[in-house]
Amino acid sequence: MTESAGTEPLGVGIIGLGTVGSGVARVLLEHPERMQRRAGRPVVLRKAVVRDLSRSRGIELPAGMLTDQVDEVLNDPETGLVVELIGGLSPAREFVERALKAGKDVVTANKALIYEHGDALCALAREQGKTIAFEAAVAAGVPIIGSVGQALAANQITGIEAVLNGTSNFILTEMSHNGLPYDAAVQLAQERGYAEADPSMDVDGTDAAHKLVILTQLAFGTRVPLDAFIRQGIDTLELADLQYARELGYRVKLLAVARIRNGLLEMHVEPTLIRRGHPMSTIEDVYNRIQIDGDVVGRVWFSGMGAGQAATASAVVADLIDTASGRTRLNFPLLDLWHQREPVPVLPADELSRRYYLRYNVIDRPHMMADVTDILGRQGISIASVMQHEAPEIDCTSDSDEEPIVPLVIMTHRTTEGQMRSADREIAQLQAVRMPRVRMPVDG
Ligand code: HSE
Repeated sequence: MTESAGTEPLGVGIIGLGTVGSGVARVLLEHPERMQRRAGRPVVLRKAVVRDLSRSRGIELPAGMLTDQVDEVLNDPETGLVVELIGGLSPAREFVERALKAGKDVVTANKALIYEHGDALCALAREQGKTIAFEAAVAAGVPIIGSVGQALAANQITGIEAVLNGTSNFILTEMSHNGLPYDAAVQLAQERGYAEADPSMDVDGTDAAHKLVILTQLAFGTRVPLDAFIRQGIDTLELADLQYARELGYRVKLLAVARIRNGLLEMHVEPTLIRRGHPMSTIEDVYNRIQIDGDVVGRVWFSGMGAGQAATASAVVADLIDTASGRTRLNFPLLDLWHQREPVPVLPADELSRRYYLRYNVIDRPHMMADVTDILGRQGISIASVMQHEAPEIDCTSDSDEEPIVPLVIMTHRTTEGQMRSADREIAQLQAVRMPRVRMPVDG
């Protein structure tokens, strides 16, 4: 039990009343009896801090609850728990530190903050005899932090494969099922409240990578910085690649992988071809899916909405109830005791071994395919299939000298990332190969 547990009402202050903050406030205000039953004591929302008091937020708060003064929460002796929902590193970090030092427990949905400062903040929380809970930081409504930290405690986890960014998955779904152009799909994700304040964090793979690092630290006791593994987003994909993948019997997902093989940690976040029918290929829309392999439990799957107001509020409020009732969450320093081993070394990217999907836009002239396949062959990369469609506008009666550009799509057999990079460098030198050159791994 934490010091905050008891029968006294728990005063709550929310910092940040955006999409998620409004959702949390709504649950607290609409379900006070449920909160009291689950927490074992009344949970009272005292203040919600916003930057701009005049902005409409789609929620009616009791008079005097809204403030633009963060000190009204951080200096309030009746507030025992602070919910940080402003996102980003600063001033979120300062607010969380001040809250802990003021003797308040903290709940946050901020994965960038936990990625950057999770260790230090958890250590500070322990020093203060307080807790910092962050279930909502990974996969929103899917209870994955609690599951890895508690329900799977009997296991040594050996592998994590996951779709962890709801926005990217939503965009891929909208593009491939509804033919929506990329920019329109990004805008729709923002309107639905799925995307980060800066949606580039979603589409360039950073958000999924933050979440994977957090899960990796919980599962393996190894903290891996973002620059130590391949991180690529969906922002370089074109609709054509989704269609070619489909034609070949695959779906494209932004797949996050961390698994231990031969004592090394294989880790990457990349758009990946997954065979149609595989459970990970069927996850659509804003949903996340996480597959965990444990040495006792075997393989388990978790899925649910990975972004959005209600799903994220569900996780934040669950943390709040846990904290209020004294069921403290696992934190990083405690995990160090769990794992008590040297960090697992990360497999160098060049040594990753997998199959690849390649697309080169080439000028449709004699010997082009031979030039490309020759380079692949000399690098020791074996081709599994080749697909080239006619350029749509071929006009045999035209005298034009302009040569059409055609996509050359190649599936390779298993090779290494290092061989692939060398081949790609050579192929880029071919005068008849045009941008973009697309390379995606194939799962399995
Ligand atoms: N922007 C995030 C996502 C929200 O799309 O997954 C939840 O972390």
